[in-house]
Amino acid sequence: MNIFELLKKDHVKVKQILQDMCETTSRAIKKRQNLLQQLIAELQMHEKIEERVFYPPLKNNNTTRQLTLEAYEEHHAVDDLVKKLAKLEPSDERWLAVLTVIKENLHHHIEEEENRLFLKAQEEIGEQELNSMVQSAQAMKRQEARA
Ligand SMILES: [Fe+2]
Repeated sequence: MNIFELLKKDHVKVKQILQDMCETTSRAIKKRQNLLQQLIAELQMHEKIEERVFYPPLKNNNTTRQLTLEAYEEHHAVDDLVKKLAKLEPSDERWLAVLTVIKENLHHHIEEEENRLFLKAQEEIGEQELNSMVQSAQAMKRQEARA
């Protein structure tokens, strides 16, 4: 598996959790809480990998710098929205509204990464560095699984 496949696999997982969340009703309190915890755990791991392993060399490259800065900001924006969602009662009518904005933001972020940043990264980053990225990412995931 290369770094792009690993990150795309995470994206699929996040999109699935978001979809499951969108299909809940305001009566499904436990389910909403469970899915939100899953979403938070996935996003934390994924953002950690991207921000520590994937983005730094892209930030230092003129071709990818702007897109990468944008990606960091999108992570922060989503984190704030997720915090807002976690503070709401799952029965609150705003719950689905906030979730929908999170979903729209993440879909935009994922699309931009997969269709633009990943393609540029493939051209700009050497094979050896891409290999070491996937090894670091897998090590982080293993460490998380043991914790
Ligand atoms: Fe991402």
